[in-house]
Amino acid sequence: MNPTRNNPQFSIARRRVLPALVAVAVALAFAVPAHAQQKVKVGLMLPYTGTYAQLGVAITNGFKLAIEENGGKVAGREIEYVTLDDESDPAKAADNANRIVNRDKVDVLVGTVHSGVQAGMVKIARETGVLHIIPNAGLDAATGPLCAPNIFRTSFANGQTSYPMGKVLAERGVKNVVTLTWKYAAGDESVAGFKDAFTKGGGKIVKEMTLPFPNVEFQPLLTEIAALKPDAVYVFFAGGGAAKFLKDYQAAGLKGKIPLYGSGFLTDGILEAAGDAAADIETTLHYGDAIDTARNKAFRAAYAKAYKIDPDVYAVQGYDAGLLFVAGMNAVKGDIANKKGMIAAMEKAQIDSPRGKWTMSSAHNPVQDMYLRKVSGKENKVTGVAVKALDYPPADRCKMGG
Ligand code: PHB
Repeated sequence: MNPTRNNPQFSIARRRVLPALVAVAVALAFAVPAHAQQKVKVGLMLPYTGTYAQLGVAITNGFKLAIEENGGKVAGREIEYVTLDDESDPAKAADNANRIVNRDKVDVLVGTVHSGVQAGMVKIARETGVLHIIPNAGLDAATGPLCAPNIFRTSFANGQTSYPMGKVLAERGVKNVVTLTWKYAAGDESVAGFKDAFTKGGGKIVKEMTLPFPNVEFQPLLTEIAALKPDAVYVFFAGGGAAKFLKDYQAAGLKGKIPLYGSGFLTDGILEAAGDAAADIETTLHYGDAIDTARNKAFRAAYAKAYKIDPDVYAVQGYDAGLLFVAGMNAVKGDIANKKGMIAAMEKAQIDSPRGKWTMSSAHNPVQDMYLRKVSGKENKVTGVAVKALDYPPADRCKMGG
């Protein structure tokens, strides 16, 4: 016989306590988790001034559009944006990233455009473990030797966008090429990717020319190109500087004489500004305005309606950063503190992008089709796929957690 059970005092206590316990359990089961009532803080560290300003704006617009299309929330949580103009200044990058993570306490750090600034952001992301989404900067190391579980990219690695152009020109039998770019990580890595495929295919780089970022004094370099008379010129320029370069190339009398090629940043987002200086230029990139799918058309219409301007590759990359974030947050029901759960979901995400569907490499960089494009009117028309599902530089240079 159980002495406690038959004790009348115990029975009374049990009668009182049990219903209270049940009430607490029921309340807990239906309670809204504490995190659900708090806003999610999204840090946008991007260039809003200087030659890359319009790229930063397009990325911001794209990200916000993805959130708006998701009902203006993520996994039921409201969003608070914290924006910071990084000025494309590498010297301020680590301090800026540190401020937005440790002072503003953002839950996710989104940015940036410039590879030099990206190096500072990657450093802080690695030190703090903050969830980090790169919506443009191609710094190869970010998804190579400096990769980390909390760092994801929704854009490209620099060499990934230029390797296909080298392949195409080599296949066409082009022999001698001069390269020209701004002297910093993005330019160097863009030329390296081009050179890799072009020289493997039998081409020769006759001269590698550079000027400091964001200098646009192209004249002396164009005079030198005219004297060298290569079969073609390959360049990496972007934003305002790209529009100026195209105009100067035409004004120097080189357009139509020495064919000009580039990664697609040369002609993206600047076709209005460049006018007929951009006509017929061929580039390779992971997006083209005129991709003929319902997904791309719907995106372009929604973006144009929201912002009264046509989207470009930067808008797509910002949009995809938003889609990736939503995928991660949905998987953990808004509990961003569950970083492991978020990372696992983001690694598995298949992004239904306006560029076409893409997946993450094991280094957290998109594995994606690289299109050959040609400027036609005010559009980058896709004329073919230069390389399918390109993972470059190869993801195995990343030792995750190492
Ligand atoms: C970069 O610095 O990585 C960069 C900047 C602008 C672009 C592409 C890459 O359009």
